[in-house]
Parts: sequence; C-alpha cells; structure tokens
Amino acid sequence: QPRGRARLVKCLRKVETCLHRSIATNAVATQAEATRKDDAGEKGKDVPKSLHAVHAKRQEQAERSVLINCHSRINDKNFIKHLSRHGEIQKHFFYESYGIYAVVEFASQDSVASLLNEAAIPSISHDSMVPFKSRLLSLRSLSSEGLPNQQSGRQCKPQTTAPINELIQRLSREETIDQQITSLTESYQLTEENTRLRFLVCSLLKDIAAAYFPECTIKPFGSSVNGFGKLGCDLDMFLDLDGISGSGVKMPKSGLWLEYQMKRASSERAVTQSILSVIGECVEQFGPGCVGVQRILNARCPLVRFAHQPSGFQCDLTTNNRVAMKSTELLYLYGELDPRVRSLVFTVRCWARAHGVTSSIPGAWITNFSLTIMVLFFLQTRSPPLIPTLDHLRNLASPADKSVIEGNDCTFVSNFSKIQLHSNIETLEQLLYRFFEFYASFPFSRMSINIRKGKEQNKPEVAPLHIQNPFETSLNVSKNVNAAQLDRFVALCQESAWLLQQSGISTPTAHKEGDTPAPWGLATLLLPLDVAKIKSRKKRRREPASDRIKSLLESLKNKNQQNTN
Ligand code: CTP
Ligand code: MG
Repeated sequence: QPRGRARLVKCLRKVETCLHRSIATNAVATQAEATRKDDAGEKGKDVPKSLHAVHAKRQEQAERSVLINCHSRINDKNFIKHLSRHGEIQKHFFYESYGIYAVVEFASQDSVASLLNEAAIPSISHDSMVPFKSRLLSLRSLSSEGLPNQQSGRQCKPQTTAPINELIQRLSREETIDQQITSLTESYQLTEENTRLRFLVCSLLKDIAAAYFPECTIKPFGSSVNGFGKLGCDLDMFLDLDGISGSGVKMPKSGLWLEYQMKRASSERAVTQSILSVIGECVEQFGPGCVGVQRILNARCPLVRFAHQPSGFQCDLTTNNRVAMKSTELLYLYGELDPRVRSLVFTVRCWARAHGVTSSIPGAWITNFSLTIMVLFFLQTRSPPLIPTLDHLRNLASPADKSVIEGNDCTFVSNFSKIQLHSNIETLEQLLYRFFEFYASFPFSRMSINIRKGKEQNKPEVAPLHIQNPFETSLNVSKNVNAAQLDRFVALCQESAWLLQQSGISTPTAHKEGDTPAPWGLATLLLPLDVAKIKSRKKRRREPASDRIKSLLESLKNKNQQNTN
C-alpha cells in the first residue's frame, strides 16, 4: 500500500534522526564528561582545566626555570650534566632565536638559587655593565675541549609556524576537509614548549617589576593563554598588583587599625600611567634582552610595548586591565567546551591572515579578537547551538563567580560541569562552509554581533562593523574597522563559500604516489583568490541604496526609543 509505505519511510526517518541525535549526544557527553573529570583532577593531572589552575601551575613551573643562551655546538648531555650539579632537572628544551637558547626547569627553586650563586657578572673590556642580575644567563665554554667535533645531540623546538606554502602542501596531502582543519590547528597552535617560554618571560619580567612592587605577579592573557594562540603571536602581559592592594581585607569593627600612608592620584588611570611609566623605565634601563621599549600611556588602555629578544616575543605589558583577563577566561571556556570551536577559530584566523583581512600592523583591519567573537557568535546561532550564550553562562554562575569590574558585570559560570551542551552534529567542513555563507549575507549595515544574547541586535551606533564588547557592553570591539575592510571580508566570505561548493575543489586531487598533490579543499581557500571575480560578485550582491537608507532610519528610530526610555 503506497500510504503504508509512506508511513513506514516516515517512521524509519524518525528512528534515523533519533539515532543520530543519540550518537551526537553521546559524543558531546563524552567530551563534557572528560572536562568534568579533568576539573575533578581524575584525568590529565598534568594540565588542569580551569584557567586559574593553569596559571597557578605554569607560574610555579616558570619560577623554577632559567633561560640560558648556549654555545651553538653545545652538547645536550654535557649541558645537562653540568647543570645537574645544582639539582634535578625536570624538563629542558632548546630553541633558536638570535642564537641557541635553552629553557631549563629544575625540580626545586633552591637549584636556581645555587645556579645563580655560581654565575658571574661578565667582564668585557671597553663595555660597562648595568649590574642587574636575572635568570637570563649565558653559558660559556672555557675550553673548546669536547665541543666542536662532537655530535651535539641537540634538537631545537620550533617557536614559529611553518611558511604558508608548506602548510598548503601539508593540507593537500590530507584526505578530507575535516582532516585538513584538524591538521591546520595542530600546526598552528601553541606548543607545550612555547607556552612554557611565555610563562617564563612573564616570570623574568616579574623579577624586574618586583624591584618596585615585591608582591606583584605578571600573568599572560589574550591569545597566549585563551586557547586560540598561534605560534608567533604577541605576548600580552598583565601586571597584577592585587596582592598589594589588599582587596578583601576587612576593617575590624573596633580597636586600633593600622594603615599604610600612600600617595594619592587624581584617578585610577593616573595611577596606571605612573606605574607603567616607572616599570617601562626599569625595563628599558635594566631589563636584559628587552629592546625597543615604548611607553604608550595615552592609549585607552595604557601599555608598555617592547621586544624580548631572547624569546623573540613582542610584548605588551598592561596593568589594571581586569576586564581583558575576564574575556581571556571566557574565550578559554568556549574553546574548552567543544574541540570544533578552537579548530574553526584557527582556520578562520589563518584564512583571514592569508588574505590580508587581519594584519600584524595596527589599522582599519579586523583584529583576531574580533574574528574570534564572530566565530563564537556564528556557533551560537547554529541550530541547535554549538555553544551557549554569555547570558546563559551568567545565569549558571554561583555566588562565588560574581564579578563586577568598574561597574561592568563580568559574571559567568566557572564550573564547566554545569554547562549542558546541545547535540549539534555538524562537521567542521559544514561549519566552515556555513560560517562563510553566514557572513557573506549578514546584515552588517543594520545589525550588531552580540555573544551575550547569541542573536544579532540593532546597531546602537553608526560603524561599518559593530561587535559588542562582551563585558564593556557600551564598547564596539571593531570600532577601528572601515567600510572598505568590511567589504573585502564579505567578498572573501562569498568567494570562499562559492569555492567550497565546487566539486573539483572539495575532493582530494588525484596524484601519483610520492608526488605532492595539487591544492584542494581548505588549501585552495588559502591561495590568493581572484580579486576581479570577487569584485564582480560584490557588485551584484551590494545592498540597494534604499535598504541602506531604511537601516539608517531604523537605527535612528532605535536611538530615539532608547533616549525616551
Ligand atoms: N581585548 C579586549 N577588547 C579589545 C581588544 C582586546 O577585551 N577591543 C582583550 C581580549 O581579551 C584579547 C586581549 O585583550 O584577547 C589581547 O588583545 P590582542 O592582543 O589584540 O588579541 P589576542 O586575542 O591576543 O590575539 P592576537 O593573537 O592577535 O594577539
Ligand atoms: Mg595578543
């Protein structure tokens, strides 16, 4: 019976959907379970899950470590034997940056003290030394015995990514677009060694800042720790003076009360500027390996910028920047919820860099931080959503999670196990294609991107691209972006979505064994795209003038409404 058959097919479809859902739920549940276990310390004891715990562990490791400039033909075994006289070495590795360097982590801080006790101030004729001792050392060989003719046995760990051409070749050898995306993430993400080096540089800087503020700590934030950092990204540092400010100390109800006498300043900003001014001066005058120090104190967020030559890191030191620490924590949380989040962010960031959508030079370009928020927003709008909204994370928060910084509500849940995920089963390939499709037709002229709500909102102000800052909600994260840059981004999204739909591009190219296959899939998206083609496409899809006028009127109407409320 045709009607009976139709019912049967319908029934089978339902079973199939249920099965799919249950598989996906299991996969996501396994992931959530793993996170929960890690939180509880049952698994992955080496790398704790909460960002606070990661910070504490890495900082402690860094304080037991030294950075040593070595002879280029140093022998690994001799090196370790020499240093082991001061105590057990827990980990060491070599890397190259203006010479060969080694990071050496001792089991105990006493070993570092013993090593420093043995170190001498160099005496170089004609040069005078600023006598500032630190854990950045040079190992000289007094005799050439045993060095030049021996096999060094030393392997240098790369601290930068391979050139884009090599990446394209590597991706072309993969068999699916999902594998390509995973492979890109693996080659771009920060390595264990690079992360250790970042914490060590913060710890070395802390030794300098401690000359003024003995109780301070310096913590990395931004892409160095939020899970979205690429090898070679800058090192954002936060000078944390909470240990000094005594926040949380309660006044006794009666009796005597002793207070410090302190200087007053006209505002928090003035305090930040004077702290960064002296630290900047100190880094410039005494900081070994710190060059090109600039004090950018009039910026919205004052900072000291410099290059740390031994590590090759471009460093930005800020203080009183607690909101940025919170957004780092939030991004970290999103990245930990589902592995697809980090992979998609890495892929979009890499694609954007390859096409000059982002740049290392500040300007009217979209920044990596903005791009990351755009990816998160897109993932919140999937059906079902892959990640929850920030409002939802705030609703899950416990009283201990409450955080209000300078009047901004920065509260969100810290216990990952409270977060229930939907069973989204989209593949990375599908998500990448839909990301391009989503932004190829996003109503940028009228709408603002908002990860707090997970839904686009009317633009509160006129700016080509409006992305609400997740915590400082009156700010636009992408205020710097001009219309030309946004147009380019949209055109590239259109082109990339179109390319991914072409059958010749979305499957691996046939090639002889041993030969490098021609670029396909994601690799094609990283090659220069045909600008002329993009431009003609762009013209066709441009919004009609009447739409633009309509959106302007709408935003004016909204403003009026807000003013009357
Ligand atoms: N930040 C912010 N608001 C902005 C810009 C930055 O809150 N408008 C915070 C974010 O937490 C960001 C951090 O400052 O992660 C560091 O900024 P930046 O170095 O520009 O971005 P990263 O995320 O570190 O990315 P990149 O790899 O490009 O350095
Ligand atoms: Mg950064």
